[in-house]
Amino acid sequence: LTLASDDHYRVPAEKVKNLCNQLFQKVGLSKQDAEIVADNLIFADIRGVSSHGATRTASYINRAQTGFYNISPNIQILEDKGGLILLDGDNGFGAVISKVAMDLTLARAKEIGCAICSVRNSNHFGAASYYTTMASRIDMIGFCCTNSPANMAPYGSKNSMIGTNPFSIAIPAGEYPDVVLDIATSIVARGNIINAVKEGKPIPDGWAIDKEGYITNDAELALQGSVLPFGGYKGSGISIMIDAICGVLSGAEFGKHILKSAGEASISGKNRGSGIGHLFLAIDISPLQEINLFKSRIDQMISEIKSAELAPNASEILVPGELEVRNFQNSKQSGILLSEATISELTELCKLFQVGNTLEYAKEM
Ligand SMILES: NC(=O)c1ccc[n+]([C@@H]2O[C@H](COP(=O)([O-])OP(=O)(O)OC[C@H]3O[C@@H](n4cnc5c(N)ncnc54)[C@H](O)[C@@H]3O)[C@@H](O)[C@H]2O)c1
Repeated sequence: LTLASDDHYRVPAEKVKNLCNQLFQKVGLSKQDAEIVADNLIFADIRGVSSHGATRTASYINRAQTGFYNISPNIQILEDKGGLILLDGDNGFGAVISKVAMDLTLARAKEIGCAICSVRNSNHFGAASYYTTMASRIDMIGFCCTNSPANMAPYGSKNSMIGTNPFSIAIPAGEYPDVVLDIATSIVARGNIINAVKEGKPIPDGWAIDKEGYITNDAELALQGSVLPFGGYKGSGISIMIDAICGVLSGAEFGKHILKSAGEASISGKNRGSGIGHLFLAIDISPLQEINLFKSRIDQMISEIKSAELAPNASEILVPGELEVRNFQNSKQSGILLSEATISELTELCKLFQVGNTLEYAKEM
């Protein structure tokens, strides 16, 4: 067991993924679907995005067990106009539905140059860059966005009315790693506040407000209150537009109509999952520009940005995705970073489902 900081440990990524995969199979997911969900979580951890990594396993398991998520969805194409597809996810796991949607989008973009897939009746899809990097890996530009439960106050309000609705854009580069922007429209992903609660830590100023609308450092009060949008009205505006595109346009739920849990579904008398919507888009680069020329121009762009004069007190200029590539290299070498809280959650699940032991795996490091 490698102690990385006060209460974080380095654990081999493949072992955690295998364990999550087994746990998801135990609650009824097919081997293939369990692999997708586990891969999606570990993708986030490997890139250092621990808010969307293995820490989500317990809540996903709970959602499968309570029937909030459909463990064997019948994902259906409702409309197919060539470059525009509408998919119904049948309330399955968000990652399972979204992988199908992005695969479809990429295949179609390869045929006709670009494609959009709009998705309804889905659930939490994890880190958005999981899907956009599927495009950049095959020399396409990927875009995606999703709506999410109303945990964020729109600019000017103290009430949670919109989600932290993230979006990601991934663009292939040549010598440099692909440029991958993946951001929530809140100051930070709400998962960071959930992790702070699990770890009993305060949160920095400006992340969230309490129920009365006052800035709070108390992670518990923040979860009862609202996360704040980044950039004031700008992040708020982007979140509203993403809700319109992912929720209203696809026929999914939007704003406060997105459900957070089986408990909320039963209180509201609604027999359904979250009702989340997504949008996936892929652009084939080659019809517009010869791919090697495009990549060398992206390289030039990155190089010019990175060699700009530094601002006072800055040590380096990073482009989107660069930090995650460093985390990736570190994780491959030394294991992914899991908090003590996540390790004990996983350990409990392992005991419950009799599938091995996270700590045992960790001790092998
Ligand atoms: N599925 C959902 O409902 C949902 C909701 C919210 C967030 N998320 C996910 O949460 C994750 C984290 O989101 P976040 O907003 O907290 O991320 P974040 O604030 O850490 O921002 C990450 C992005 O900013 C770039 N970046 C970070 N530091 C940088 C620096 N110093 N210089 C230049 N660029 C830098 C990164 O390369 C990356 O593209 C994302 O993967 C997102 O998709 C998912």
